[in-house]
Amino acid sequence: MSKRVRKAVLPVAGLGTRVLPGAKTTPKNMLNVFDRPILSYIVEEARAAGIEHFVFIVGRGQGAIEDYFDLSPEIEGILEAKGKGDILAEVRRDLPQPGEMSFIRQMSPLGLGHAVWCARDVIGDEPFAVILPDMLMAAERPALAQCVDAHGKVGGNIIAVEPAPAGETNKYGIVALASQDGRLNRMTGMVEKPPLGTEPSNLFISGRYILQPEIFGILETQERGAGGEIQLTDGMAQLMMRQDFHALEYEGTTYDCGDKIGLLRANVAFALRRPDFADAARAAIRALL
Ligand code: G1P
Repeated sequence: MSKRVRKAVLPVAGLGTRVLPGAKTTPKNMLNVFDRPILSYIVEEARAAGIEHFVFIVGRGQGAIEDYFDLSPEIEGILEAKGKGDILAEVRRDLPQPGEMSFIRQMSPLGLGHAVWCARDVIGDEPFAVILPDMLMAAERPALAQCVDAHGKVGGNIIAVEPAPAGETNKYGIVALASQDGRLNRMTGMVEKPPLGTEPSNLFISGRYILQPEIFGILETQERGAGGEIQLTDGMAQLMMRQDFHALEYEGTTYDCGDKIGLLRANVAFALRRPDFADAARAAIRALL
């Protein structure tokens, strides 16, 4: 039986170039989607998949992330004194247990493969999840939990995928499948940002992975690939020569919050998903149209 997936790596160091100036002084994954930061949803999704330890790969100027996942005696004290228990509960909802979170500085933005490699000592010798927090996923069974279910079935390495919008396969990592039968299929290849017309399928790597720890030895010497960055996709392609990879076409909807319109869509969608705000949100949106 394969080992349980207990730890997740969350690479959050990116500059958020596509959501500037919002991301100038606020780390991009701390931008709000409706009433809480993107990372609040991501941590909730990971917990629902059984994750017990969160390894954030951060960059300079991202102290707001650590502060968000810490006590705030001033705010909490005021809310308590004023008897605002409901807001207090919301402020405390994402707090970790002591020791559940690690923060690692990436120091230089050398690419996603390098960011994941920075987590090697904290992960150790067990399978682990990687979550790209830009990609917010709405799903009945949370997306990472679907990946963990698939890992329980077939073991090895799992990559969540979904069909890319027409003409956009060159923006993502793209997978090749042995055959397509149902949602979980064995992979035969993958390539990072293939030029249009050379993509092996229309399925793109959408930001949830279960990986085996042998990836770290490969990433250590991984050369720069697409965009001059050390690519996780290139490292995984090498690991695939020795280990099984399955692509899971997960059930749900992805919102790319690293993009202005994606972030807007997420705000609207997640407001509409909230039973306590859906009616007011719908009325506000209708009035605007
Ligand atoms: C990264 C990955 C890519 C994946 C994408 C999803 O690319 O390298 O394989 O498809 O995230 O958002 P980036 O968006 O960092 O260029």
